[in-house]
Amino acid sequence: MCGIIGYVGKNPCVPYIIKGLKMLEYRGYDSAGLATLVDGEIKIKKVVGKVNQLEKIVVNNEEGYIGIGHTRWATHGEPTLNNAHPHIDCNGRFVVVHNGIIENYKELKDYLLGRGHIFRSQTDTEVIVHLLEEFFEENIVYSFKRVVEKLEGSFALVILDKNNPQSLYGIKRQSPLIIGLGDGEVFVASDIPALSLWVEDYIFPEDDQLAILNPKKLEIYNLKDKLEKLNIKPVKISKEKISIDKGGYPHYMLKEIHEQPTILREIFTEGIEKKGNFFFFKDFKEDDNLWKNINKISIVACGTSYHAGYFAKYLWEEELPYNVEVDYSSEFRYRKPKIDKNTLFIAISQSGETADTIAALRLAREKGAKILSLTNNLRSTIARESDLNLYLRSGIEIGVAATKTFMAELAFIFLLKEYIKQELYGENSINWDDLRKIPVYLEKILSESNLIKEIAYKYSKNKNFLYIARGKNFPLILEGALKLKEISYIHAEGVSAGEMKHGPIALLDENTPVMTIAVQDETYNKIFSNLEEVKARKAPIIAIATENDQKIMDVADDLIYVPKHNSKYYYFFVTIPLQLFAYYVAEKLEREIDQPRNLAKSVTVE
Ligand code: F6R
Repeated sequence: MCGIIGYVGKNPCVPYIIKGLKMLEYRGYDSAGLATLVDGEIKIKKVVGKVNQLEKIVVNNEEGYIGIGHTRWATHGEPTLNNAHPHIDCNGRFVVVHNGIIENYKELKDYLLGRGHIFRSQTDTEVIVHLLEEFFEENIVYSFKRVVEKLEGSFALVILDKNNPQSLYGIKRQSPLIIGLGDGEVFVASDIPALSLWVEDYIFPEDDQLAILNPKKLEIYNLKDKLEKLNIKPVKISKEKISIDKGGYPHYMLKEIHEQPTILREIFTEGIEKKGNFFFFKDFKEDDNLWKNINKISIVACGTSYHAGYFAKYLWEEELPYNVEVDYSSEFRYRKPKIDKNTLFIAISQSGETADTIAALRLAREKGAKILSLTNNLRSTIARESDLNLYLRSGIEIGVAATKTFMAELAFIFLLKEYIKQELYGENSINWDDLRKIPVYLEKILSESNLIKEIAYKYSKNKNFLYIARGKNFPLILEGALKLKEISYIHAEGVSAGEMKHGPIALLDENTPVMTIAVQDETYNKIFSNLEEVKARKAPIIAIATENDQKIMDVADDLIYVPKHNSKYYYFFVTIPLQLFAYYVAEKLEREIDQPRNLAKSVTVE
């Protein structure tokens, strides 16, 4: 969601802000803006649209040495210039950028209007600068404490104060904010990628801590309960060469789809340490007897990560002795889950910052569950708040639609199952030769993407799709439908093939194509019968099937073959055609594939 960057130091700030905002574009946004302090005057520039447009209206080298920038994902108020950040108070002293939601903004706004403040936007954010205007006094730290105590909800804030031109102020609660220390300069941002070109030393403030960002002296204060100055040591993270070019691909999404074989290879080698036929996860040390002591696994996640979690339920219940529950993070609290110290709670989140998943994790923590997370960011809130963490090793994913991180989630779900078996029964059932072949077969599927493109183009005019599958393939088909929806804006309904007769079959006609996974696994015969039912309703069928399957030709109109292999591993294969199909439909329709409308990469509000 919203991206934040701030800079104060020896160099002109605008180039850093623009570049940092570009590195945060992957989070999703609809407007952008920045504020700088030049010769004692605050200058604000905003656009509805992209950072490139903002770049065109700012003058790089004349805009001061302190500034803040923002990409906004609209929550309160439409994406307009007035609603774009930064926001400024009545007297033009404080300017703020904000990520999160101020839940009690209506009451605060009413109070501030009563005090004569003039609001220029419909945002919840604007109350913050008017509160600062109202309550600021000589003691800066105390002033922030008073203001922050009035705010309910989640926020990461960076504030520029015209009267204090040497310092920015940063403060967070339940939304991510990090500080980067340079040589004679300080940075603040929503996420490491925004700073990784310039910074190696980071500070990760906790909730309700105020950072006074002055290049000569960085100070951090605890504002909650007792006011106190803190001494937080920076953490070194080597400068990542995160390239913001697309490596020759027209979109990040396509590049990331093509990275999947390499990521799997890396996970199967670097992600684990092999000892004979046994293997261990790096930097993962659970309590003795954890696997014997737990009696249930409870998984929470959202979107694509939820589909990975749902897949885990199918895969794990087949072979592990636990009941596996899966919830959407946002629904978890409403069903009053029965979890306790014998529950292993698993949070799956590529970003590690999804607000609903964080909230569910904190609830599980209160109930005493052991917490394991799968994230692609070891510095994220979810990773930091977990007892155990599996790192997805996928590199930064810039396309808003999750692809390679989903593949990595599947890989770790598979490995974790085998690891638990090994720890419980003293054996795993990995056939390492079969495993090694998976990335090679993924490369083969990718090399044949032209056929998938042709099929996708053929169906790109259809307005509705049904996606059906059974068993383990069901969560995967749901993921395929989500991919099509989010990047092509076409309605795609994912349905369990067995459920089709209980309602969704009414949707079928010659204009409603059906996408299906019909590989030769334990679901094959039943799904085949379901496809006959589809055919009888004249709906065109696109089937992902096993190489050389002749029988499937009787029902399918279009076929995407995946290589024949140990059927235990087909889930890795079928994922890629579903991603490519969605990609090429969206490409044909000229959608904004990497940043689809209304979506954000990191959903930091509940
Ligand atoms: C879909 C997508 C989203 C995310 C969801 C959870 O392509 O990217 O559905 O999967 O917002 O995000 P994480 O995994 O970061 O918690």
